[in-house]
Amino acid sequence: MVTQKIPMDNDLKGIAQGLTVRGKGILASDESTGTIGKRLEKSGLENTEEVRRAYRENFYTADIGSSISGAILFKETLYQHSSDDLPFVTCLSDRGVLPGIKVDQGLVPLPGSNSETSTRGLETLESECRQYRRQGARFTKWRAALKVADGLPSEAAIQRNAEELAEYAAIAQACDLMPIVEPEILIDGDYSLQRSAEVSQRVLQACVAQLWRRPVDLEATLLKPMMVMPGADASKRASKEEVSIATLDTMRRSVPPAIPGIMFLSGGLSEEESTQYLNAINVLAKEQNNNPWALSFSFGRALQASVLKLWTEEESGRVPAGAAKEMAQALAAANAAAAKGEFQG
Ligand code: 13P
Repeated sequence: MVTQKIPMDNDLKGIAQGLTVRGKGILASDESTGTIGKRLEKSGLENTEEVRRAYRENFYTADIGSSISGAILFKETLYQHSSDDLPFVTCLSDRGVLPGIKVDQGLVPLPGSNSETSTRGLETLESECRQYRRQGARFTKWRAALKVADGLPSEAAIQRNAEELAEYAAIAQACDLMPIVEPEILIDGDYSLQRSAEVSQRVLQACVAQLWRRPVDLEATLLKPMMVMPGADASKRASKEEVSIATLDTMRRSVPPAIPGIMFLSGGLSEEESTQYLNAINVLAKEQNNNPWALSFSFGRALQASVLKLWTEEESGRVPAGAAKEMAQALAAANAAAAKGEFQG
């Protein structure tokens, strides 16, 4: 078992440092009941509390501590236990994995916009954060989503989501929880690499400007953006080298060095693509030698898709017990190598 010292109670910088330790990243396993339900049902499984618990146990009791620094949980999961009755928070901490929690309550339509969204949850955030902290969570995540299309994202959506993200970060820190700020640029649509870079820059700069306006400690804040790349429907694809150049240029133009880590989401990319792009970003970052942050992952689907498939097969006896856990460990290890630019795929 990997023993990583869990930082002191109020040491939020220590939590950020622990999460961004070289060669480790974050497991985003905080899908809402509806989202995980869709994925379970697609695999032929029922979306019950027990199935969700058993599926997540597979990760939280795997040997992932040498590749995973933190796991983001959904509210329900924070209170669940393993089949031998250990709280999941303890299973994770025993493996040196910091437990975190998604604190937003999902997307809502932004009034007057062309199908844009903001994120709800600020009204009850402080009391919930205090409760989650007592339950053992050490860090939090809040997700905003921005669509790219003709005239989108609108300035109104960019500003509103940046304000909400910064407000969230200030409240989380006041409750002794380290915030991950996630302004996701959605991959859906037909847009170019160049447009992705322009939009990412506007969105990230707006977020940082709002963080500056509040009592937010940047050294105790992590950013979770999408890598800069063409939309999923764009006919002109970009090579991993082009993606890595555009991503690092955009990050250097937008993210202050005080923020210790940029933990990319996978946003619907395949497992293979996510790992390859992350690796290319780290290979280039080493060559450039002027990128001040840890560049790692906070992947959901890219750490889970094959695991869910195998776990479903395991449940029906088609593959031997333990296969899904081995896959979880292998995917975590591949991405941990990519976070050092050492993935040999
Ligand atoms: P994906 O990596 O599947 O995009 O999930 C990351 C996440 O946490 C989205 O909020």
